[in-house]
Amino acid sequence: MPILHWLNKDQAVKTAKQSAYRLLEEVPELSYGDQSTENMLIQGDNLEALKALIPFYAGKVKCIYIDPPYNTKSAFEHYDDNLEHSQWLSLMYPRLELLRELLSEDGSIWVSIDDNEAHYLKVMMDEVFGRRNFLTSFVWKKSYGGGAKSKWFVGLHEFVLCYTKNIGSFPDMFLPPDPDAVKKYYKYTDEKFDTRGPYRLQPLATTSMDDRPNLKYGISIPDGREIWPEKQWQWSKEKTQQALANNELVISEKKEKITVSYKQYLKNIDGEERKRKPTNLIEGHYTQHGTYESMALFGLSDKFSFPKPEGLISNIFEACTNPTDLILDSFIGSGTSAAVAHKMNRRYIGIELGEHAQTHCQPRLKKVVDGEQGGISKAVNWHGGGSFRFFKLGQTVFDEYGALNTDIKFITLAAHIWYAETRTPLATKSDSPFLGIHNGKAYFLLYNGILGDKRPQGGNVLTSKILEHLLQIKEHDGPMVIYGETSRLGSSGLLQNDITFKQIPYDVSAL
Ligand SMILES: C[S@@+](CC[C@H](N)C(=O)[O-])C[C@H]1O[C@@H](n2cnc3c(N)ncnc32)[C@H](O)[C@@H]1O
Repeated sequence: MPILHWLNKDQAVKTAKQSAYRLLEEVPELSYGDQSTENMLIQGDNLEALKALIPFYAGKVKCIYIDPPYNTKSAFEHYDDNLEHSQWLSLMYPRLELLRELLSEDGSIWVSIDDNEAHYLKVMMDEVFGRRNFLTSFVWKKSYGGGAKSKWFVGLHEFVLCYTKNIGSFPDMFLPPDPDAVKKYYKYTDEKFDTRGPYRLQPLATTSMDDRPNLKYGISIPDGREIWPEKQWQWSKEKTQQALANNELVISEKKEKITVSYKQYLKNIDGEERKRKPTNLIEGHYTQHGTYESMALFGLSDKFSFPKPEGLISNIFEACTNPTDLILDSFIGSGTSAAVAHKMNRRYIGIELGEHAQTHCQPRLKKVVDGEQGGISKAVNWHGGGSFRFFKLGQTVFDEYGALNTDIKFITLAAHIWYAETRTPLATKSDSPFLGIHNGKAYFLLYNGILGDKRPQGGNVLTSKILEHLLQIKEHDGPMVIYGETSRLGSSGLLQNDITFKQIPYDVSAL
């Protein structure tokens, strides 16, 4: 497959692996509401923040929406958008790699971008996500018009590039009926026989289908006349007769022309409303709306530059997620996608490097929890509730020589070891030395006095007594991998019990 090359690509390809693996540390005074929530706002460089999330969330994110700097060569009020072209590509490549790891098999990633980098990004995403997993390149009509100062063309649109993790697992996409179209088109109901609700009338005759002799026949109407189509009908004679008998056809006469129409109901025969396929043209939500929303939240002088309108983001989430699904935005700016996810009852993780994580995102989400009524609030009937936790990047799990930082907590090391061994996120958050079974192997971790005895000779050391205790916690007669400070079982004891012993910190390495 042809791939993109740029100066320092070799380094960019190694960046995700080489970047520091840090802990996330909560800043409780910036968190808000009930603390059992999974909703997270993280302040820091998304490269390190994404890496910190991987042991916990790999393969778990249903939808990633990102709106990275477009490289427009501008200096916006809250961030700069002026990287040399190769640097921009090197910024994106490792982050896309980490994002891919976090995406679920049936998940999708949506990336806002414009003419400056869209076509390079497409080729890069083909490489990272696989060309076969490309879903579409949306055209988002971002403004009504204007642009009198443009040198050549008035730029009316941006793109949203959309990929799935695995095209074989990506579900069919449908949207609920458009309420405006329902009101406008489905305006009839049968007073006497109203079993199916509103319907619209569609002509039964067609001139656009291929010639089919069995679709040319006369329909006898109650006054004795027989109606023939100009070319043919859409339905077979049997289906038409059934529809006549069911009162599902309407015969009308205007200026001596008789028309046969069928009733197209909003609900199908099982009572489900007719759904729509989303198109890859997004209209109706403009940059201006985002700016007004930001002004309402932060005032004229403190509004964010060019935030996305909430309606645009809710269209995306509606198309590819269900309530409680997990959404991730690693360039969250003023917090639009988190606010929308919160109002739509999705779980979310937002990451932002700048100070506006605290001056814009955090206060915005606080307002949302308190029932803020801008953006999509009225459309989704939002009245407040829920909570989020605020994090910063903390100490590194490994030092510059790759040695384990012994200050780290049990659950962090457990998640790291489990991920490094299995490439899946740790399912349990409990503080048990038993981490789980993967491919028939049971994994145990003896660390930080998990068995209640902090002395090195105690719970962190594998002895026959501790082994007995571990097997009481989880009965298992297959192979085992046990991490601990040291083992007193000796090589024959380990062999006899089918145990691979791994020593902390030497056998624990960065991802
Ligand atoms: C175009 S703005 C996003 C706007 C957002 N969609 C909204 O509606 O407010 C891009 C954001 O990415 C942030 N950003 C740039 N590089 C980053 C990095 N390495 N880690 C985290 N955030 C970053 C910038 O500070 C900026 O806020």
